[in-house]
Amino acid sequence: MVALHQGLDFLRRKWDREEWHLFCLESTRAHPLRELLHQCPYSRHSFERPRGYAGDAELIDYVYAERATGVSRMGKAIYHYLYAQSGPASVRERRLILAREIDAVAERVKRPRILSVACGHLREAETALAVRERRIGELIAVDQDELSLAEVTRQHAGGLVRPVCDTVRSIVLGRTSFSGVDLAYSAGLYDYLNEATAKRLTRQLFGMLRSGGRLVVANFAPNTPDAGYMESFMDWWLVYRDEEQMKGVYSEIDPKQIASLSMTRDEVGNVIYLTLERR
Ligand SMILES: C[S@@+](CC[C@H](N)C(=O)[O-])C[C@H]1O[C@@H](n2cnc3c(N)ncnc32)[C@H](O)[C@@H]1O
Repeated sequence: MVALHQGLDFLRRKWDREEWHLFCLESTRAHPLRELLHQCPYSRHSFERPRGYAGDAELIDYVYAERATGVSRMGKAIYHYLYAQSGPASVRERRLILAREIDAVAERVKRPRILSVACGHLREAETALAVRERRIGELIAVDQDELSLAEVTRQHAGGLVRPVCDTVRSIVLGRTSFSGVDLAYSAGLYDYLNEATAKRLTRQLFGMLRSGGRLVVANFAPNTPDAGYMESFMDWWLVYRDEEQMKGVYSEIDPKQIASLSMTRDEVGNVIYLTLERR
């Protein structure tokens, strides 16, 4: 697995995009290794896309906690290896970073209004102390996937969390909007958006903030070493952005409205966090 993982990362960096794409679509699909690797439930789930799209919340749950029942020993071992890699570690760190953001806004503001876009299973809210202690006003959890929102509802009975089934498109077009938001964030979404959509979404989300409100957007950076395995054997393609490309993401916001701006990376340097505060 070490040789395969590193070798794929090496080829992905060495070849041009077209050559790499061709390799992923033709060579790896037909390769006998594929069947073996797909004994890993995480790899297979990604490749088969049971919900019809890449990167569903069930797939991300394989990254949050190891769970492999009814899986062969080989499958478990492959999954265990992948689970320990830096990409999945960054996703787990992302969950903690977002939970800290939720706790922090609850310290700054009494009963804050929080918006999570493309919330998936909203696992960060299960970690946030402010949610457990019911110190938030409302957490609006938007996702396109009814099944994911059903899990959110199961985990958060009691009315603090409001699941909203809606799409990025609807937000971008201004059909769905929220106001007076103290914290808006999105993780695991921008990694799938083209530049035009990412820009418009950022502008719309920023516009929903109240004065002093924060917008946090996470995006995987291009150097992530897991990308080779993900693209070739999981058919999981992200839009990776570096700091320069992240600048484009907020370029449609009037700079006079931005009180502060920061870009930071997580501990391993795989994920970039763009944080904007509204004046
Ligand atoms: C990779 S998961 C991330 C989930 C969660 N934010 C997390 O960090 O664990 C991506 C989520 O984005 C949602 N999503 C993708 N495209 C979307 C769209 N166009 N509109 C609304 N939700 C979308 C999916 O349904 C999925 O739940």
